[in-house]
Amino acid sequence: MKILVLAGSPHLHGTTSYLADKFSEGAQEAGNEVIRFDVAKLKVHPCTGCDHCRRNDEKCIFDDDMSQIYPRLLEADAVVLVTPLYYFGMTAQLKAVIDRFYAINSSLRKQSKKLLLIGAGGDEEDWAMSALKSHYSTVCRYLGWSEGGMVLALGAETREDVENGIYAEAAKKMGREI
Ligand SMILES: Cc1cc2nc3c(=O)[nH]c(=O)nc-3n(C[C@H](O)[C@H](O)[C@H](O)COP(=O)(O)O)c2cc1C
Repeated sequence: MKILVLAGSPHLHGTTSYLADKFSEGAQEAGNEVIRFDVAKLKVHPCTGCDHCRRNDEKCIFDDDMSQIYPRLLEADAVVLVTPLYYFGMTAQLKAVIDRFYAINSSLRKQSKKLLLIGAGGDEEDWAMSALKSHYSTVCRYLGWSEGGMVLALGAETREDVENGIYAEAAKKMGREI
């Protein structure tokens, strides 16, 4: 299986990056191919809603690093969204990438893929993740993709809070069992 990991934190060695590594370890051990983009380090212009893509065969007007992501997205069997909780949602950097899915919506909606979610936040109560979970489910529903599972680490302010703990194990297991 080809798995595309879209990691949305600006911290390349932070909490969610660590959980994404654990996921990838499990997925690769199970024989899957994992391609990862740390999207906060890429140049991805926010969608401006110009609809150039609607008139030009799904071609976005912006020629930026999405050109690396689009082909990987189209060929992936599974896509993993990885994000720290930023004000109870995903990071703006990851949202910018997802908004740019818009250009190729009709192609994406013809495909059947799994969508998975890895998140982490410092809050300890599970309501903190509710908007992120709901957004994830809604995106799955809209695209017609299946929910492949989620690992949402609570009380995870820093990488040390998740290292070698239950969330690390859960992320690895999710990768192994995808
Ligand atoms: C701008 C910003 C907003 C945040 N908002 C939340 C939040 O709404 N809820 C929460 O639990 N943690 C929040 N946090 C804490 C991060 O989610 C947490 O530190 C996480 O472990 C960072 O992961 P990373 O190292 O992968 O970036 C926020 C952190 C920042 C910098």
